[in-house]
Amino acid sequence: MLLPLLFFFLSVLLLFNSTNYSRAAEVAPVTCSDIVPFPRRAHNISITDYGGVGDGRAINTKAFKEAVYAIQHLKREGGTLLYVPPGVYLTGPFNLTSNITLYLAAGAVIKATQDSLTWPLIPPLPSYGRGRERPGERYMSFIHGDGVQDVVITGENGTIDGQGDVWWNMWRQRTLQFTRPNLVEFLNSRNIIISNVIFKNSPFWNIHPVYCSNVVVRFVTILAPRDSPNTDGVDPDSSSNVCIEDSYISTGDDLVAVKSGWDEYGIAYGRPSSNITIRRVTGSSPFAGIAVGSEASGGVENVLAEHINLFSMGVGIHIKTNAGRGGYIKDIKVSDMYVEDARKGIKISGNVGDHPDDKYDPNALPVVKGITIKNVWGVKVLQAGLIQGLRNSPFTDICFSDINLHGVTRPSRTPKWQCSDVSGSAHQVSPSPCSELISYQSGSCANYYS
Ligand SMILES: *[C@@H]1O[C@H](CO)[C@@H](O)[C@H](O)[C@H]1NC(C)=O
Ligand SMILES: *[C@@H]1O[C@H](CO)[C@@H](O)[C@H](O)[C@H]1NC(C)=O
Ligand SMILES: *[C@@H]1O[C@H](CO)[C@@H](O)[C@H](O)[C@H]1NC(C)=O
Ligand SMILES: *[C@@H]1O[C@H](CO)[C@@H](O)[C@H](O)[C@H]1NC(C)=O
Ligand SMILES: *[C@@H]1O[C@H](CO)[C@@H](O)[C@H](O)[C@H]1NC(C)=O
Repeated sequence: MLLPLLFFFLSVLLLFNSTNYSRAAEVAPVTCSDIVPFPRRAHNISITDYGGVGDGRAINTKAFKEAVYAIQHLKREGGTLLYVPPGVYLTGPFNLTSNITLYLAAGAVIKATQDSLTWPLIPPLPSYGRGRERPGERYMSFIHGDGVQDVVITGENGTIDGQGDVWWNMWRQRTLQFTRPNLVEFLNSRNIIISNVIFKNSPFWNIHPVYCSNVVVRFVTILAPRDSPNTDGVDPDSSSNVCIEDSYISTGDDLVAVKSGWDEYGIAYGRPSSNITIRRVTGSSPFAGIAVGSEASGGVENVLAEHINLFSMGVGIHIKTNAGRGGYIKDIKVSDMYVEDARKGIKISGNVGDHPDDKYDPNALPVVKGITIKNVWGVKVLQAGLIQGLRNSPFTDICFSDINLHGVTRPSRTPKWQCSDVSGSAHQVSPSPCSELISYQSGSCANYYS
């Protein structure tokens, strides 16, 4: 865990240095974070003004609710910063409101109670039709925002701790009644910034923007044990204009997974994810580094992931879907990725994931088209690539260039590449890829190499 962290800081350092070296010193690295201007608040209140006690024992749910209520109803011009001083603030889940900055000082910890019996329930997402893991309602996220705008969660790298082990154990013992809570969820919201915060031990997914636009997640650290179930890092879901940058994520599931609803519910809701940028992210996971799907029934398009460093991985890039999902996954670009020690470098598969119920339409076939992967370097990678399209909806325009996935010294029976129901082209790919990618002649990949 420390080694990749060190590598991350080193690579950020190197990046800044090399940028400064090669260009004018004032030129900052490429960023998408300017899609949401960082607001300076006119007012500053402290959680202690509302009875907050950071002794790690007192329950602060009332303090957080009253502070947020005050901000919501006073509607003070220029917005309000809610300051959380150093200390450990145990609390139940709470809502945020518009025009708020939740500010965690250095040494501030907002810690979730483990009181699952009193945890409020909220309706399932319409694009999922039910809770993701249990039918019916689901637990509200620890920090929640519905229909809000201009919200910032930031500070001096304080911690939001989900204390997820009680929830993981319920999952392991199959005693969960409802779907576990996300650590942070925003629904129907826009202009959200999450920066300079450490997220720890989420019960379920860590950061889940759903039906949102203009969301920035940067300079965050997301940590959960390697064996913690479903602790995805950041899951942009039916959301557009999402920028994830300069972060370290090490969890028990996908580091970033772009989604858009589940089977017939996601198709009916019809809300895609688009314009998603993931840049300078480092981390480690038994599952995927960069994932799309498997719930992508509202469609996913225009995803860019670049400068990604992965260690001890299941899969570097995993694009996953299934018959019944419908929708589309197109214009996905991944470049400049380093993968060390992985079961698979690249996986694009049409047979992944479960269904919400038996009402899904098995003839709702997803379209997977325009996947460009370039400049990937992998060492200690067991299998370079596995691409399994759908027989009646083959994956097309799969374009690979400058990919080198080597490093397993011991002999392996697994072919380096396995492909079916896929077409596209490959240029300077080593080991030499499957014939489906080599033989393709129409040159449609030309549009994707730029
Ligand atoms: C907000 O107020 C607290 C005192 O309540 C102070 O310590 C803190 O520095 C202020 N923060 C900002 C960002 O103004
Ligand atoms: C959160 O806000 C919703 C309204 O958006 C409300 O129904 C719910 O009771 C609030 N939950 C908590 C825990 O404050
Ligand atoms: C947020 O602040 C803006 C500008 O100060 C204001 O126009 C808007 O009404 C506020 N929104 C809410 C929900 O208070
Ligand atoms: C917080 O963490 C980020 C990312 O890890 C780092 O870039 C930043 O310098 C840290 N900030 C502080 C105030 O420690
Ligand atoms: C995606 O980004 C492009 C270019 O920045 C913009 O024109 C388009 O409106 C964005 N799409 C959405 C859904 O916001």
